[in-house]
Amino acid sequence: MKKIVVIPGDGIGKEVMEAALLVLDALDLDFEYEFAEAGHECFQKYGDTIPEETIRLVKGADATLFGAVTTVPGEKSAIITLRRELDLFVNLRPVRSLPGVGGLFSGLDFVIVRENTEDLYVGLEEYTGDGAVAKRVITRRACKRICKFAFDYAVDEGFERVAAVHKANVLKKTDGIFREEFYKVARNYPGIKAEDFYVDAMAMYLIKKPREFEVIVTTNMFGDILSDEAAALVGGLGVAPSANIGKKHGIFEPVHGSAPKIAGKNIANPTAMILSTTLMLKHLKKKKEATLIEKALKKTLKKGIKTPDIGGKHTTTQVAQAIRDELIKI
Ligand code: NAI
Ligand code: MG
Repeated sequence: MKKIVVIPGDGIGKEVMEAALLVLDALDLDFEYEFAEAGHECFQKYGDTIPEETIRLVKGADATLFGAVTTVPGEKSAIITLRRELDLFVNLRPVRSLPGVGGLFSGLDFVIVRENTEDLYVGLEEYTGDGAVAKRVITRRACKRICKFAFDYAVDEGFERVAAVHKANVLKKTDGIFREEFYKVARNYPGIKAEDFYVDAMAMYLIKKPREFEVIVTTNMFGDILSDEAAALVGGLGVAPSANIGKKHGIFEPVHGSAPKIAGKNIANPTAMILSTTLMLKHLKKKKEATLIEKALKKTLKKGIKTPDIGGKHTTTQVAQAIRDELIKI
């Protein structure tokens, strides 16, 4: 029995989570779900966006599904707190074309592996006389473990190339270390082709020749930017899943937020959340079930059963129900 913590959160987070659970429920899984709270409504109830009880449950779980939360300035970020508490050093963003979602390209299948704990995100920013300075922290330990994850992922998923992205011509020390550690790790994977690119060039290649990439590994800030660019290639926020992975834990969430503008209307696209559950299934070594959901999702989209953001007329619930029906048929 696997213990799965479910944090629906705010706004459409709740709607897409309900849809995803409806789909998971069609499979014969040995999951025990525990619901936990986080986000803005949680803050209004308990004065805390991420209560100790939620952190405790997540720490004790085999995996966590996270919908989306509303982040209000001045309130602590729930997801950033969880990433830090659990040392989730990988942010995994698969970029895969789906039928009928209006991406800029078809036939894409690559993944961005973003370092999730350091770089400019350490919050070391201070005012100086006339301006301000932000510190960029890069350690060999973090570079090594993110690169190792990227190569292991390539092996597991049958990819043959890993590309490191950096700006070592300008950031000679920080990105110099990242590039060095990347090639050191690469030596242990003789079957995988290792190459490296400058981030500016990669921003262009993702638009000019995205089919040439398989696994891209990079530091936190570059990964943040490139992964949003990549999401646009395959249809945008409604279909972009992600995983935050550490040594022991994993939190699986759509890239999008709580989308207050469309919340409560049952029109949110559940695809990103559903694909996030397939990342969780793969993480829990349930590849077969993950593939079944992907197949059912593709069949549903091909039939034109989809939400308005990708040109459809169906509700969140109808899409989830259709995927569920496909799963039961398979
Ligand atoms: P957002 O991602 O929530 O929504 C932006 C727009 O994208 C929406 O208005 C909607 O038109 C579209 N969209 C997003 N997801 C969709 C879906 N599943 N189906 C259909 N359309 C979808 O970003 P926004 O509006 O900037 O932020 C709203 C709130 O969410 C903020 O409080 C923000 O801080 C928070 N947020 C939370 C995240 C998280 O929980 N990890 C991530 C990003 C934002
Ligand atoms: Mg971002």
